[in-house]
Amino acid sequence: MKRETWGTQIGFILAVAGSAIGLANIWRFPYMVGKNGGAAFIAIYLLCMLLIGFPVFISEILIGKKTHANPAKAFEKLGGNKWRKAGALTILTGFLVSTFYSAVAGWVLGYLFEALMGSLQFTSTEQASLHFDALTSHPFWGLSFHFLFMAACLSVLYCGVKNGIERANKIMMPALFIILIGLVLKGISLPNSGSALAFLLNPDWTLLTPAAWLAALGHSFFTLSLGQGTMVTYGSYMREKEPVLGSLVPVVLMDTVVSLLATFAIFTIAFSQGVEPGQGPGLIFQTLPVVFNSIPGGAFIAALFFLLVVLAALTSEISAMEPSIAYLMEEKRWGRHSATIAVGAFAFLIGVPSALSTSVLKDSGFNFLEMMDLICNSILIPLGGLLAVIMVGYVWGFKPAYKFLTEEHELKPIVKNYFWFTIKYTAPALIFLVFLNALGIL
Ligand code: PHE
Repeated sequence: MKRETWGTQIGFILAVAGSAIGLANIWRFPYMVGKNGGAAFIAIYLLCMLLIGFPVFISEILIGKKTHANPAKAFEKLGGNKWRKAGALTILTGFLVSTFYSAVAGWVLGYLFEALMGSLQFTSTEQASLHFDALTSHPFWGLSFHFLFMAACLSVLYCGVKNGIERANKIMMPALFIILIGLVLKGISLPNSGSALAFLLNPDWTLLTPAAWLAALGHSFFTLSLGQGTMVTYGSYMREKEPVLGSLVPVVLMDTVVSLLATFAIFTIAFSQGVEPGQGPGLIFQTLPVVFNSIPGGAFIAALFFLLVVLAALTSEISAMEPSIAYLMEEKRWGRHSATIAVGAFAFLIGVPSALSTSVLKDSGFNFLEMMDLICNSILIPLGGLLAVIMVGYVWGFKPAYKFLTEEHELKPIVKNYFWFTIKYTAPALIFLVFLNALGIL
C-alpha cells in the first residue's frame, strides 16, 4: 500500500500549526504570563524556544522526513534495532497525552454548549466557580463531552492524512485565526486596554523564579507538540520537494503569535473589568465568564472564545493520536479505519478516569488527571525530545542530518553553528535540567 503524503505545502504548514497551537497557547500561556511577571516571562519563553524548542522541532521533523515511517520504524531505520523501543515510547507518550487532553478539551466543549445556551451569566467569580464545580462534579457531563470531543477527532482521522487531517486543518485554522483577531479587536476597543498592554510590556524580573524558568522550558516543548511522536509522524508525510525550514519557521512564528495574541485578548478583556488574569487554571472557566458577562455583546464573545479553544484543541488532539494510528497501519498491517476506531476507543477508555477525576473519583485521594499530566509533562515528553536530539546529533549524526536539511538550499554559517550548538549541546543539557527538577534533585 502506498504511504500517504500531504497534498500541499500550505496544507502541511497548517496541519503542523494546528498541532502546535492548542490549549497550551490559549489557556495555559496567558495565565503563566500573568503569574510569572508579564514581559519578563515572555522574554525567557522566547529564549527557551530558541535554545530548545526550535532545535528539537527541526530534529523531529527531519527524522520523519528522512525515514517516511512511523516513529518506531523511523528510529529503527536511523539507529538500528535498539532504537526501535525509543521511537515506540514516543508513540505511547502521544497516546497517553491524547487520553487526558480529550478529557480536558471535553470541558471546553461543554463550556461552548453552556455559552451557546446562554447559561454563563455570572456576576461574581464565586458564582462562576460554583457553576464550574456543579458541572465538573457531574460524571455524566465530563464523560459525554470527552466522548463527543473524541468522536469529532476520529471523524477527521478516519478520512486519512490528506482528506482528513489536512482538509480539517485547512478549514479550522483559518477559522481560528479569524476568531482570534476578532477577539483582539474587541479587547482593544474596551476601556483600559492600554493598561493591559502596559502590564504585558512591563517586565517584572522579580517574579522570574527558577520555577518560572522551568515552566517556560516545559512550555516551549509542549506547545510545539514535541517528544511524543507527533512531529516525527507529521514530518514523515512530507514529500521530498517540501522545504523543512521554509515550512517550520512560519509554524513557530504562528504558534508564538497566537500565544501572544490570545494573551493580549484575554488581558484586555479582563483588565477592562478590573480583573487580574493571573489566577491560574481557573482563568477560562471561572474568571473569563464573569468578565464576558459584563461587557457589551458578552454572550456572543463567550461563545466565540470557547469555539476558538475547541478548534485549537481539536487540531492538536488529532495530531497526538495519529502516531498510534500510523504505527498500527504500518507495523501491524491494519487498515486506517480499524486503526482509527481502535486507537479512539482505547484512548477514550483510558481517558475515562481523567474525565471522572473531578466527579466520582474526586474523593479517592488520588487525582488521575494530575498524575497523567505529571508523568507526561515532566518525564515522558522531555525524554522523547531528548531521544530525538540525541538521535539527530549523535546517532544519525549532525553532519549527515544537516546535509539532508540543506539539500533544499545553502544556509549561512551562523545558522549552521546555531543548529550544531543547540542540537548537540544546549537542548540536551537543558532537557537534562528538566529531568533533575522532575526527580526533585534541583
Ligand atoms: N501543542 C499542543 C498544545 O499546545 C499540545 C499537544 C501535545 C498536541 C501533544 C499534540 C500532542 O496544546
